[in-house]
Amino acid sequence: MHNGSRPKVTRAIYPGSFDPLTNGHLDVIERAAGALGELIVAIVVNPQKRDPMFTLTERESMLKECVAHVPNVRVDHFRGLLADYVKAQDADVIVKGLRVVSDFETEMSTAMMNRSLSNVDTLFLMSDSKYSFVSSSLVKEVFFLGGDVSHFVPHSVLDVMATKRAALKKS
Ligand code: PNS
Repeated sequence: MHNGSRPKVTRAIYPGSFDPLTNGHLDVIERAAGALGELIVAIVVNPQKRDPMFTLTERESMLKECVAHVPNVRVDHFRGLLADYVKAQDADVIVKGLRVVSDFETEMSTAMMNRSLSNVDTLFLMSDSKYSFVSSSLVKEVFFLGGDVSHFVPHSVLDVMATKRAALKKS
């Protein structure tokens, strides 16, 4: 319940695989950081669903470079349960982006589970419509099949992707 005092400075966690970071992620990061006190962008080390294409070091350095202009954003990583990480960081909220209605179905149960495990709520930001179809997995698929993804990822991420594609071609 609101106690009538000024709102506290909020520490928020924005978790994800960031494999790789997209302009959609960056948009959510910038908007969340504008609204909240401190935002920790937390890279999951071993996503449940798949092996990441980019190493943790690559993902971490992409993110650090791309959020360097936002002073209240910190980049970190975690293993295991998000709820445990949230508690360890003494965070007040989790932040997630919602692109399309189908995101809502999984995000709702995930938010409820995380709230039940850590007593922390999830705040959702609607994606900018120009990024509503942009996902890391689609960006990778299009890029590695030769498509142009330059509108969907930051320039520095595109460079890392090009290096990865060249290395994969050689191997
Ligand atoms: O960018 P992604 O892959 O959609 O992010 C998914 C992420 C990292 C938010 C989710 O997989 C996660 O929270 N993983 C940590 C493990 C965990 O806590 N699982 C239970 C969720 S209720």
